[in-house]
Amino acid sequence: MSNGIALVLGTRPEIIKLAPVIQACERRSVPHTLIHTGQHYSETLDSVFFDQLGLPDPDYNLGVGSADHGKQTGEMLIGVERILQECDPETVLVQGDTNSVLAGALAASKLDVRLGHVEAGLRSGDREMPEETNRTLADHAADRCFAPTEQSRDNLLAEGIPEERIEVTGNTVVDALERHKELARERTTALADLGLDEDDYAVMTLHRAENVDDPERFRALLFGASRAGDSHGLPVVYPIHPRARERIEEFDITVPEPIRLVEPREYLEFIRLEDAASIILTDSGGVQEEACILGTPCVTLRDNTERPETISAGANVLAGPDPATIIHRVEEMIDTDGDWENPFGDGTAGEQILQAVTRAPEEVPQ
Ligand code: UD1
Ligand code: UDP
Repeated sequence: MSNGIALVLGTRPEIIKLAPVIQACERRSVPHTLIHTGQHYSETLDSVFFDQLGLPDPDYNLGVGSADHGKQTGEMLIGVERILQECDPETVLVQGDTNSVLAGALAASKLDVRLGHVEAGLRSGDREMPEETNRTLADHAADRCFAPTEQSRDNLLAEGIPEERIEVTGNTVVDALERHKELARERTTALADLGLDEDDYAVMTLHRAENVDDPERFRALLFGASRAGDSHGLPVVYPIHPRARERIEEFDITVPEPIRLVEPREYLEFIRLEDAASIILTDSGGVQEEACILGTPCVTLRDNTERPETISAGANVLAGPDPATIIHRVEEMIDTDGDWENPFGDGTAGEQILQAVTRAPEEVPQ
């Protein structure tokens, strides 16, 4: 591959989930260029992950920052296009469903550069979520859709995406966890730092726009989580995303005990917290997957999920904002044994994706 691969990323989950692909490029000396859009820029959402995952600094950082969807996505599109024209890669890879993904996908497809979408085919069916629009458009622009599961492959087929464009690889989240899970157990003091005992606390993340940008819904979710924690005598540790922190201040919300707001954790610290928790409450996509892989029961604080595999496995249930439902769901899940199958693959997704991308042109389906 002459000019190799350009990987476009911009947010915390993309850094974590593209790390296994970047590391596979390094292992096999495949030329690659890292383009950071700058969608996430706070140290706690960005540079700590490059450091902890041992990733090289991005070759480019567009520094786009926060803005309304159109402005943010538009500036990223302009910036990524300029860089792709400069570095002329054979393939562009994007991962997931953020605005950075949409911008990277559009830039590649307009320049007619081969595009691969990592974590393709996820669908919540909720067209109000910006993530649903982003992932659907990226899938349809992509030349190669790397679906994590058979179910995501079926979603793509149902939308008319030809079979030859789809490859089921598992999810790179497994590769990252396999690589770091033991290290997190051995090396971090994540529990002691927060004064927590193993299997005696809940961990919560809430940051999705549909949950935290609506004051009544955000209040109800916090109330439900606090009552659920209380009824099991568990502190609820909430590493809070800056978006949610800002909304708490803006809406003047008093966070009820036993919820404890803490700064976002570094990756190893966070996966240790997930691993040792009695239960996880979340609206995050990646956290639903990690809970399922680590064997920690999960209650998803949303009305739908694009990770239905976690529900079929018995690892996850949905609860919307109704406090009584949250309490009930926590009750239902808290004593489950965690002995379910991981539906997200065997931890070789990064290698499989790289192999598919670097296959000789005559072997690549058109
Ligand atoms: C984005 C993704 C979401 C993903 C999440 C991962 C979109 C539409 N949303 O949401 O799917 O789950 O990333 O964490 O792409 N902010 C900071 N520092 C930062 C970044 C953001 O303080 O480094 C604050 C700003 O006030 C900003 C707000 O967070 O306005 C929202 O940031 P934005 O990038 O628009 O979306 P996220 O909520 O991070
Ligand atoms: N994560 C982390 N520290 C935290 C919260 C989350 O390292 O304090 C990691 C988590 O392990 C997972 C990823 O961030 O891999 C999920 O990202 P996020 O919830 O921001 O986005 P989503 O998956 O919802 O798009």
